[in-house]
Amino acid sequence: MISEPGKPISETVPAAEQSAPEREMWGSRLGFVLAAVGSAVGLGNMWRFPYLAAESGGAAFVILYVVMLLFIGVPILLAELAIGRSARLSPIGALKKNGGKGWAPLGLLFVASGFLILSYYSVIAGWTVRYSIDALIGGFPADPSARFDEISSGAGALGFHLLFMLITIGIVMGGIKKGIERASIILMPLLALILLGIAVWAMTLEGCREGYSFYLRPSLENLLDPVVMARAGGQAFFSLSLGMGAMLTYASYLSRKEDVNGEACMIAGADFGIAFVAGLALFPIIAALGLFGDVGESTIGALFIVLPKAFAAMGAVGRVVGILFFVALLVGALTSALSLLEVVTASVMDELKLSRRKAALIMGGAVTLLDVLPALSLSSLGIMDQLAGDLFLVFGALLMAVFVGWRMKGAADELAAGTRPFFKKLLPLWVFLVRFVIPPVLLIVLYNSVRAAMAALGIGGAE
Ligand code: PHE
Repeated sequence: MISEPGKPISETVPAAEQSAPEREMWGSRLGFVLAAVGSAVGLGNMWRFPYLAAESGGAAFVILYVVMLLFIGVPILLAELAIGRSARLSPIGALKKNGGKGWAPLGLLFVASGFLILSYYSVIAGWTVRYSIDALIGGFPADPSARFDEISSGAGALGFHLLFMLITIGIVMGGIKKGIERASIILMPLLALILLGIAVWAMTLEGCREGYSFYLRPSLENLLDPVVMARAGGQAFFSLSLGMGAMLTYASYLSRKEDVNGEACMIAGADFGIAFVAGLALFPIIAALGLFGDVGESTIGALFIVLPKAFAAMGAVGRVVGILFFVALLVGALTSALSLLEVVTASVMDELKLSRRKAALIMGGAVTLLDVLPALSLSSLGIMDQLAGDLFLVFGALLMAVFVGWRMKGAADELAAGTRPFFKKLLPLWVFLVRFVIPPVLLIVLYNSVRAAMAALGIGGAE
């Protein structure tokens, strides 16, 4: 039996399961799916994906990304859902319960990754708060790069990031049902509506065709390029929030009656859909103003410089679209930050038996302190992003595949519980992928990422 969207899961859970642990639970299937989509959809979708697609082969990147998503992203997502739901514990406890004490350090790595990612992600999110306010009050500045320098450094950057963290901590303190689920149910449809609206409006812009063809040009020779493959793979993990236990932790609040396979398809579909639509929304705007030359480097800064420039040049309409865009970006960042802080909070709650309020406050406070570094230095922010996004997540996902494929007993049975016959037939394929395909592919991706990181840090010769 599968609970209906919007219907409390607890109504469909047998009494024994309800009364067993006092662990919190999602209020509805829709609530869980939207919270997971909220975790997945964020800065990664609305800038990183379109940018990477444009830079790394257009349509070829999109095709490779979909292949990576289907054959690596979704199976790892399923692995996280299986581990989390079967153990009903956050990463450290869940890995210990399903695989023995020796696996606890992997859980610790997940918590450390969550901590690290949140500490710079929230700094960027702080900028989005500032941009939304800017757009609302005074419009976009004439010199966006000077404004970006101002916003991304000094006391302002610290202050707005603190504001963002306070909101995040407040929602996580509210709990799974009343905090994270409630916020996601309101915010995620809002984000989807805004982005769709901007994409439809962008179709009316002169130069939209040029924008689309820059974004999706078919340079098919890139299909076999290992660097593009590695980028597509890394992006799939970052975008689906995989490799650091966010989905695992969210799944620990799920009932065994849920069809996690169907939910994984919805989450991956929505995540890809929003990333793709973001590209359809952004490139016509950039093309209309002839700003391709400005999209120079692959840094998050480009988003905050090129787009305000375009919005400023478009007058009143640009201002309205600009406000909506930065609000959508803020919403995406907030719902992702909730899942990052939840991993850290739930781990402290489970391992140290602290109350949710105390755990969220202490850990949120600790992250906020660590943020001082990326808030004040863009280059340290870049290094943290590369370290966490390209290395920790891929390494985490690799070990997760080995864990469910070779160590954990009953992972496939866990996925079979509550699912439909179609997905049951696909389970042997899932087992094959996590055992034999994903570990070697991720080893190659990791090798490429380590080389790229070393080259970026100037170690071991130039690339
Ligand atoms: N998936 C988020 C994004 O696309 C980032 C994220 C990574 C969130 C890992 C949680 C965990 O922006």
